[in-house]
Amino acid sequence: MSKYKKTAKKKWILAVLSLIAILSHTYGQTAMINVESRDNKMSLNGEWKTMIDPANSGEYLQVWQEKTPQKKTDFFEYSFEGAPLLKVPGDFNSQLRELTHLEGIAWYKKSFNYSRKSGKRLFLHFGAVNYLANVYLNGEKIGSHEGGFTPFQFEITDIVKEGENALIVKVDNRRHGNGLPGFSFDWLNFGGITRDVDLIETNDTYIEDYTIQLKKGSLNTVQGSIQLNGTKPSQKVKVRIPELDLIHKAKTDEDGIANIEFTSKFELWSPENPKIYEVIIESETDIVKDQIGFRSIEVKGTDILLNGQPIFIKAVNIHEENPHQGSRAHSVEDAQVLLNAAKELGCNLVRLAHYPHSENTVREAEKMGLMVWSELPIYQHIQFEDSLVPQKMENMLKEMIRRDKNRCGVVVWALSNETYPGTPGRNDALIELTQQCRAEDSTRLVVHVANTQTYKDNTFGVSDSLYLHSDIVAVNEYIGWYIPWQGKPSETQWHVAFPNKPLFISEFGGEAMYGSQGGPEDEAAYWTEGYQEKIYVDQVEMFNKVPNLVGVCPWLLFDYKSPGRMHTVYQQGYNRKGLLSEKGDKKKAWYVMKEYFKSK
Ligand code: GCU
Repeated sequence: MSKYKKTAKKKWILAVLSLIAILSHTYGQTAMINVESRDNKMSLNGEWKTMIDPANSGEYLQVWQEKTPQKKTDFFEYSFEGAPLLKVPGDFNSQLRELTHLEGIAWYKKSFNYSRKSGKRLFLHFGAVNYLANVYLNGEKIGSHEGGFTPFQFEITDIVKEGENALIVKVDNRRHGNGLPGFSFDWLNFGGITRDVDLIETNDTYIEDYTIQLKKGSLNTVQGSIQLNGTKPSQKVKVRIPELDLIHKAKTDEDGIANIEFTSKFELWSPENPKIYEVIIESETDIVKDQIGFRSIEVKGTDILLNGQPIFIKAVNIHEENPHQGSRAHSVEDAQVLLNAAKELGCNLVRLAHYPHSENTVREAEKMGLMVWSELPIYQHIQFEDSLVPQKMENMLKEMIRRDKNRCGVVVWALSNETYPGTPGRNDALIELTQQCRAEDSTRLVVHVANTQTYKDNTFGVSDSLYLHSDIVAVNEYIGWYIPWQGKPSETQWHVAFPNKPLFISEFGGEAMYGSQGGPEDEAAYWTEGYQEKIYVDQVEMFNKVPNLVGVCPWLLFDYKSPGRMHTVYQQGYNRKGLLSEKGDKKKAWYVMKEYFKSK
């Protein structure tokens, strides 16, 4: 049987298996976009009653039915009444000391009142729940979702009751071998309902989705679409940009889709001039306002072009953690703590590692003139050959792109980080995912990050075949920390098997404990600022020798929580590679990086 027949047969089997898995319960529907500007939105944020379920007995007890004693001999070994309250949005680990390292199950309950209205639909929208969410309304399971960093929703029009409703969410942040990420990752596995929860009421037919961005390679032509959802799919629609006196009219077809294309003289978005326009998308039965900028991003030979001009990427890695609170970041204020520091360092791009961060962060970055690198948690050890993994990757990809495709700040979709060529199925799965990504959005750079290079005789050998499918060669290297220099940084050679592609150093650096002056500065084991500073001085010296270098991105901005980092004096459960301590103290290396970015 030919190779293609074999692959087709394999694909068919995989598709059927994942279909079976999905049909076993309603999977979270792809969320409507731009929830924050929906008119009839009712927030369910606030305090939720919570039962921690370390023994996973809630499933067996069917706690979502909230049974109450009917006769004297009845009793039920669970109750939300009197349960501790946890804040939503928010991870549960940082809210109660005893939950600091919880990887398990928590049951959340929120009651809300609703009065049903004819001709109206109601959606329950989650910004994100880490990791698995089973959702129940009034004792009935309405569906589930897997993946901790992307939005999902359920339509509850026919389920919601007049008056008081009981919403229960089973949150499970246990690790899964065939999960994304898998079993091991270098950050604290914050669990919980980590982003906003909203009820959104719409008319029968509403604007579910739209794409309004410049056509690939164009500086003045918008190419996109509008998608209506409801019983009146075919409607007149409009895109208005009042500031440009622009009104573009179209008509949706029987599937509710209208393709749109129009030209205008846009003031282009850039880090120096983060120009955003109010854009109004209108149909006969709905209206949505958005803040959208217009820019083009592409690779040309060994350059990255922003609005047609070569750009040097001055970036920094950021984890989604509010350093001062040691909690999963979610709010605009959290985002500003992180992004203001990146701006102060002199960055024009933030790599949001290693998973899609909150929409608040992406929108704030765009406003502040910071380009955004958005990434999927396809991180290191992934079971690519597991029958469910391809579908999970595709779901997460589509959820990530759908939410942020109108954010001009987002210039990179990164689909994997440090996966291993030796992992069975890795290349096939990631090549397939790359094609899906390009089909979903052809206007941004698509990237895979690797650390598979060789380093011998002070020479890097970069040849991972995955880079054939990546718009830039993104290399993580920790020379000076995990691997000692093998010669002068200024004499380091780079043999890159992709000489016609831009090269980007997506991670480099080393650890230091702020204020640690204890030991000799030339010894790593004392986590001194001097040792980290030297790593940066040497790296900067090497950067001048790297061929086709289009940018660098230190690992990382702030020290952050990672339980695997166990040195009791210098780490205390923190990855200390930050240029800033978790309190925001500037380490010596900060100044080396700031100086370098000023020079670029
Ligand atoms: C890796 C990885 C990061 C990790 C870092 C480190 O390259 O991508 O997630 O935290 O190295 O070891 O500190």
